[in-house]
Amino acid sequence: MTNKPLLSNNSLLTNILIFDSGIGGLSIADEVTQVMPHHPIVYIADNRLYPYGIQTDDALLTRAKTLFPALESHYQPAVIIIACNSASTLILDEVRAITRTPIIGVVPAIKPAADITQTGKIGLLATKGTISRQYTLDLITEFASQHEITKIGSDVLVSQAERKLHGHTIEKTLIEKELVQIISNATIDTVILGCTHFPLIKQEIQNILGNRIHLIDSGEAIARRAAHILSASNQQIPATSPSPTHTFIFTADNNQIDKLTPALHARGFFTIKIGNH
Ligand code: DGL
Repeated sequence: MTNKPLLSNNSLLTNILIFDSGIGGLSIADEVTQVMPHHPIVYIADNRLYPYGIQTDDALLTRAKTLFPALESHYQPAVIIIACNSASTLILDEVRAITRTPIIGVVPAIKPAADITQTGKIGLLATKGTISRQYTLDLITEFASQHEITKIGSDVLVSQAERKLHGHTIEKTLIEKELVQIISNATIDTVILGCTHFPLIKQEIQNILGNRIHLIDSGEAIARRAAHILSASNQQIPATSPSPTHTFIFTADNNQIDKLTPALHARGFFTIKIGNH
């Protein structure tokens, strides 16, 4: 860490730090800016270790232990959102133990899906890491034990979402192939988008599955939770404040920045750089 922190210790903490392996956390940033349009966002894309969904537990835990304390002291955020199901289902306790900032994890919306399904048949679309984590299995046992959950771990959908935001055409046939277990099961009525990349290709997924399937993600609830934390600690920025500029930081060199720039500018990220994290 060579740069100075953005804020001094006694300033009002306003930054919302959103973390993901890649661009998936932008689906959470979209919800956060709906609820709190005046808060500056610092977005960290840990492309150094992307994709998280296929990393070993050890690799993710080791990375988290050095990265999060460094990000906390460098950016002094009011709240950190780990906008990555693959990470949150594994590292939440460890990160909370080594930081002082409120940490919000993003995990699959099992309970909301269990509450709305009519057929009791639910699809869980997430990364291979997320679908096999004990945390996820515990959520299913706690909230959906009476339902049947079809778990699909897909890295292809992650890379298709990345492709879309980088301005490439995405391949419908590849997405269809990933969804075949849902397409061929006429009783599934609810599908959880358990990876933050997937809401970015929600329309494409919905077009393939048709309107009989209800797609659910955690984004809105996460944004409301963050707003609650900030208002409870009097850190919410008043609605009269000017629109903030958001900052997007990659953790490793990225020769694709130009391609991603339109999607970032459209979301108010005008400072885009490679950090040395
Ligand atoms: N967006 C992430 C998630 O919610 C991780 C995707 C990846 O890097 O594999 O799981």
